[in-house]
Amino acid sequence: MGYARLQDPRRRDLRYDMNRLANPSKRQSNWHVRPYRAEDATARAEVFRQAVQKGAAAHYDQVQRDAWAAGPSADSLKDRLAPQLVLVAVDSAGKVIGFFSLTDAGLVDFAYVMPDLRGSGLADHLLERLTEAARARGLSRLTTEASLVARSFFARHGWSEERRQTVTKGEAQLDNFVMSLDLGAAETAA
Ligand SMILES: CC(C)(COP(=O)(O)OP(=O)(O)OC[C@H]1O[C@@H](n2cnc3c(N)ncnc32)[C@H](O)[C@@H]1OP(=O)(O)O)[C@@H](O)C(=O)NCCC(=O)NCCS
Repeated sequence: MGYARLQDPRRRDLRYDMNRLANPSKRQSNWHVRPYRAEDATARAEVFRQAVQKGAAAHYDQVQRDAWAAGPSADSLKDRLAPQLVLVAVDSAGKVIGFFSLTDAGLVDFAYVMPDLRGSGLADHLLERLTEAARARGLSRLTTEASLVARSFFARHGWSEERRQTVTKGEAQLDNFVMSLDLGAAETAA
């Protein structure tokens, strides 16, 4: 079928490990993960905005990022996230620095960390916690629509690429990858 692992994952892992070694401060984990609370809404929105506008700048142009960052509205986002499991990462000062979400159907709907914490292990930890929660809920398969930024991140965690697709957001078109993880065959994260 159309399942294909990304090419040469070991080279990506090596680049990732070298990045981490070159940025030892990023390996410190002065943060913890907890469930989302209503009072996190503003900070969560800021993580989303920065992750899109700065974190995705190498892969999407300004028009695409503006369209991505613009929607959904605060109200529709609140409704969309309400039934989901939302985990936030919080730093030692209590600031929200990342959030991931999971639907009942096993869709990892949101996966965002502050741009300066890319490659720090924060996203790894959030995904690991979310995957643990999915297993505890009896889910056997996870899916996501991984951005061009997130593609290698999910692949490194053992996710398979199903297909590339183009989605419309506002006036812009953005490419992403439908990816999935068979929880029965999940690998331990790097
Ligand atoms: C998707 C996301 C949560 C993954 O988190 P992450 O920390 O970037 O993931 P990783 O731990 O795998 O980081 C590795 C990447 O960070 C890069 N990286 C490592 N150290 C870095 C540093 N000091 N500065 C910048 N980038 C760095 C690596 O080169 C690697 O990039 P690559 O995948 O292009 O090879 C995060 O990138 C993000 O918020 N992206 C923007 C929003 C987005 O696309 N969300 C996903 C929607 S589906």
